[in-house]
Amino acid sequence: EPGEYPDEKEAGRLPHQAWSRFPPQKFYYLKVEAKDHEFHPELPKQKIWGYGGVTPGPTFVVKYGEPILVRIENALPLDHVGYGTPEISTHLHNGHTPSESDGFPGDYYSERKCGSTLSRPGKFKDHHYPNVCSNFTAYPDTGGDHNLALGTLWYHDHRMEFTAPNVYRGLAGFYLIFDDLDCDDENDDHEGALRLPSGVGKYDIPLVFQDRRFDSGGYLFFDQLDPEGIVGDKFLVNGKVQPFFSVERRKYRFRMLNGSPLRFYEFYLVYQGADQSFVQIGNDGNLLPAPVTTTKLRLGVAERGDLIVDFSPYPIGSKLYIVNKLEHLDGRGPTGRILNPGTQIMRIDVDSEPASPDNSRVPAVLRPLPPIDLRKSRPERRFDFGRLNNMWTVNDKLFDETKPIVSVKRGVEEIWTLRGKGSWSHPVHIHFEEMRILSRNGRPPPAHEAGRKDVFVLSPGEEVRILVCFRDFVGKYVMHCHNTVHEDHHMMARFDVVA
Ligand code: C2O
Ligand code: CU
Repeated sequence: EPGEYPDEKEAGRLPHQAWSRFPPQKFYYLKVEAKDHEFHPELPKQKIWGYGGVTPGPTFVVKYGEPILVRIENALPLDHVGYGTPEISTHLHNGHTPSESDGFPGDYYSERKCGSTLSRPGKFKDHHYPNVCSNFTAYPDTGGDHNLALGTLWYHDHRMEFTAPNVYRGLAGFYLIFDDLDCDDENDDHEGALRLPSGVGKYDIPLVFQDRRFDSGGYLFFDQLDPEGIVGDKFLVNGKVQPFFSVERRKYRFRMLNGSPLRFYEFYLVYQGADQSFVQIGNDGNLLPAPVTTTKLRLGVAERGDLIVDFSPYPIGSKLYIVNKLEHLDGRGPTGRILNPGTQIMRIDVDSEPASPDNSRVPAVLRPLPPIDLRKSRPERRFDFGRLNNMWTVNDKLFDETKPIVSVKRGVEEIWTLRGKGSWSHPVHIHFEEMRILSRNGRPPPAHEAGRKDVFVLSPGEEVRILVCFRDFVGKYVMHCHNTVHEDHHMMARFDVVA
């Protein structure tokens, strides 16, 4: 719930470049603290690190065009033991965020310490999220106002070199943006309303999937010194091991997020041993141009899949399972083998008739995208994600927070080629804007990648060409591998957007 507007004289207020253009309409306060959590009734209660003291953190439900301010207080124990570090830098993943609020990895802080890119330590930091962006007619992706992430975003810690352990400890949550068309009201009858299953937490269910390891005493375990990272053998859905969820016989929207340190998933919906079909309506932060009917959803780290599942065909008493069938044995990436039967991750119980008539639908057209004129010439750049002397690199360089590897002009379209070098998979994420895939290995993107994206999975040797354009704000940003272990081991690059 939004709270009182803070006293602007208080410490922690940075110069916000977009404050006067997009004055915050709502104020939120998040306290990051260590609190007891129960992963499963058979596991001991234990301390996690959580936004608001819970994991996942509170879900933000915001409106396009309504700028907000989020004050994030760091109340983590400074004397903590074990993995992770109690300094934080919170990033809104897929947010169109001014640089100083973006959670730059070097912008970490605690009361005692801060990164070299902040002027001094402090208890809290104010993050300004405009939830809006301007149109640049040069950019083809200007469907009216719908030219930024408008769907499933998430926020998580981004502390340089400690993102994997800090997120593993619990620092992640959802951030959903709605607008007039996808307005979180399935009964809305105004022109163009999409009427997707609505009501966050009711028929619109964000689900974060995170694999974990527990030691023999039942406590969360992580080895932050292992540059290969950790593949868990237990699966959390929204912070619980193997939970179940009761549904009515009607349509639901599931926003699936892979929040694991490095594991990839291929999800199936299984009923009586058979794969069921469902509809994918979104990929990453946005709706697709058109729905895709499928039986599977593959997600690299940090990717999101927005699904509609219709439970009306199943009789009351039915049990369905969300199953992962993708084999993933180590830090290298998925083997590609599809396991049968796979691992049951969550059970869905069809328990009752709909409480009221289901007026939601899956429209044939979701968010159309304008065509891209490929004859137009644009500056091109190439970024290689590889390994050099056992270190993870971008263009053969280790992350250096103090200097950009490129400076890009604000509002100018460019074409970037991302290449995966070597034999590992790299889910590459670029901050600040969404991009469109022009080609994957020389071919047009598959239907489920035809929307706007912010994560690009590079399987070994793959090459993805994308159209990028950084609008509105200037300053330092990063791109990186979202295998958080690779990210912590320097597979990240700073780029600056300049006027
Ligand atoms: Cu989801 Cu740079 O992060
Ligand atoms: Cu990687």
